[in-house]
Amino acid sequence: MADTKILLEESDIPTHWYNVIADMPNPPAPYLGPDGKPVTPDKMSALFAPGLLEQEMSTQRWIEIPEQVREILRLWRPSPLYRAHRLEAQLETPAKIYYKYEGVSPAGSHKPNSAVAQAYYNKIAGIKRVTTETGAGQWGSAISLVGGMFGLEVRVYMVKVSYEQKPFRRSMMETWGAEVLPSPTTLTKAGQQALEKDPNCPGSLGIAISEAVEEAASRKDTNYTLGSVLNHVLLHQTVIGLETRKQLEKVGDYPDVIFAPCGGGSNVGGMMFPFLADKAAGKEIRLVPVEPTACPTLTSGHYAYDYGDSAGHTPLMQMYTLGHDFVPPGIHAGGLRYHGDSALVSQLCREGVLEAIAVPQLATFEAGVMFSKAEGIVPAPESNHAIQAAIDEALRCKDSGEAKTILFTLSGHGHFDMASYDKYLSGELTDQEYPQEALQAALQNLPKVA
Ligand SMILES: Cc1ncc(COP(=O)(O)O)c(C=O)c1O
Repeated sequence: MADTKILLEESDIPTHWYNVIADMPNPPAPYLGPDGKPVTPDKMSALFAPGLLEQEMSTQRWIEIPEQVREILRLWRPSPLYRAHRLEAQLETPAKIYYKYEGVSPAGSHKPNSAVAQAYYNKIAGIKRVTTETGAGQWGSAISLVGGMFGLEVRVYMVKVSYEQKPFRRSMMETWGAEVLPSPTTLTKAGQQALEKDPNCPGSLGIAISEAVEEAASRKDTNYTLGSVLNHVLLHQTVIGLETRKQLEKVGDYPDVIFAPCGGGSNVGGMMFPFLADKAAGKEIRLVPVEPTACPTLTSGHYAYDYGDSAGHTPLMQMYTLGHDFVPPGIHAGGLRYHGDSALVSQLCREGVLEAIAVPQLATFEAGVMFSKAEGIVPAPESNHAIQAAIDEALRCKDSGEAKTILFTLSGHGHFDMASYDKYLSGELTDQEYPQEALQAALQNLPKVA
C-alpha cells in the first residue's frame, strides 16, 4: 500500500518564495489611488514595511526567504501531505485523493506562513505595534503568535460574529500577548459609522480592515498587517504549493485537479500558483478555488475596481467584488466572508486560468463530518469547502471510472469551531443564500473609476 503520510525534511523547506507575477499571461492591473492614478509604494508606506511593499510590487520570479523567517517556519514546516486512503475506500472511488494539511501550525491553519514574514519585515523596519483584522480568528491567532516572537505589540479587530462564536480563539490570541476587540468598535470612525447604520451590526472583514487601517494610519509606531488578499501574502503562502510539488514527486504523482477554499485567496494562491507555469506550458490541470454560496465573490461578483475595506481607506483594486459595503450573512466559515478577493486570483479567474465554484454551507459540513470520520482530523469550516468539492469530484470519478489524482488544501483544523459543528449536528444550521437586495445596493456603491 502506498504511504499515507508523505513527509519532507526540514532542509526541504523552500529557500525562496515563488512570485506568480513573473509568469502571468498579462501583467496585473495596478492599484489605484483616490485620484484614479496608480498608487506608488510611498503612498502605502504609512501602513506597510518597506520589505513587504517591495514584494507587493515585485516582478522577480523567486524571492529569497530570510533565514530568521525559515527558522520559525521550522517549528511546523514542512507540513505533511496525506493520501486519503480511508476516504477513498469509503467513497469507493478509483480516484486518488491527497490533502496538504496546514493545521499543524501552532495557530491551526496556513495563516502563520505569512504572519512570520510580515512580523519579520515590520520588526526590521523598527515598527513597535501592528494592527489587524480577523474573521475566523485564524489570522488573528497567527499574527498574535509571531508578533509575540518578534516583540511586537498586536491589536486585533475581530469580526463580532466570530468573537461571539469563538471565545477560545480570543483566549488563545490573548495567551500569546495580543489585545482583541470585537469589531465594529466605538474606537474608530469606521466602527462608529457601521454602528450608526446598524447598532446590531455583526461585523464584516471589510469593516474590521477599515478599523485596523484607520488606527495604523494614525500612528507612526504602528503598521497594518493583512492575512490575505495582497500579493505579498499570497507570495508567502507559496511554500504550501512548493512543498506539495516535492511531496508528489516523491510518490511519482501529479494532480489532475486542485481544490482550495477561497476567502481572500491566500491559500488558493499558495497552493495553486506553483503549478501555474506547468499549466501555461500545456499541462492539463484544473485549478479550482471553492467559495460559499452565501458570499460568492468569484462566481457572482462584479469584476471592477473596488476598495478592500468597507470605509474606503485602502487603494482601489481590480477584483471580483460583491461591493465594499456588502455585509455577508453570518455563515460559520468566518474566513470566507469577504466581499472581495485577491487581485491576482481575480485576474486569473477572469482569464480562465482558475475556475471558481461555490458550495452551500450544509453540504460543506456534511463533507467535513464524513472526512473526519474517515481521516480523523476535524477540519475548519473554511476547509470543508475544498473537501466538499474534492468528494464531489471523487464521486464523479466513481461514476465515470476515471482514476484521477485529486489534491486539496486542508487549510486548518476546526478545534475552535466546535460550536458550529454542534449547530450542524443538532440540525440548527441552515443554508444561507446571499441577500440579493443588499447585494444590489452594495454594487450601486462601487467607486467610479475613469
Ligand atoms: C482555515 C482557513 N481556511 C481558509 C481561509 C480563507 O482565507 P484565504 O482565502 O486567504 O486562504 C481562512 C481564513 O481565515 C481560514 O481560517
